[in-house]
Amino acid sequence: MPEADSAQKDQLGLRGLEPFTTQERILDPDDLPWITYTDTISFKPLRLNRRTGQWSTLTKIVGGGHAGRHYHTASVIGHVLEGSWYYVERDWVAKPGMIVWEPPGDIHTLMTNQEGTLTIFNHEGSLLYMDDDDNLIGYDDVLTITRLYHEHCERKGIEPLDLDY
Ligand SMILES: [Fe+2]
Repeated sequence: MPEADSAQKDQLGLRGLEPFTTQERILDPDDLPWITYTDTISFKPLRLNRRTGQWSTLTKIVGGGHAGRHYHTASVIGHVLEGSWYYVERDWVAKPGMIVWEPPGDIHTLMTNQEGTLTIFNHEGSLLYMDDDDNLIGYDDVLTITRLYHEHCERKGIEPLDLDY
């Protein structure tokens, strides 16, 4: 089946995929919008690879903000750029320059300190939100984040970048 033209929507209603290329990608975060995720979290999408399920975000969390208790179906690597954060379930603090690897299956609750944080998260799979009894209460993956990005662009009247690499 031929690749969808980028101007056409795919079967999920998202921007069609560009043909596969091995050409390098140069991405300037200034060309990407901040997208509100919660009242304390916003993000810029950096990579939304619908072929592999990998997705990366530049995530900003204001002081005292948190990402609800969640489970990863695959690993995540976080690179801390500014501020600091920790998991409620652990006793370490992630600071600028540090790298945090989150293994598949880990359940944790990310909290920021008062200065908040700017961190790049590279996801290999889905993020499942869990309640305290380990019941699934929500999820995100490359498709939900792509949809948030495309919907934001549609509201603002801007063309979404091709982040499927
Ligand atoms: Fe996590």
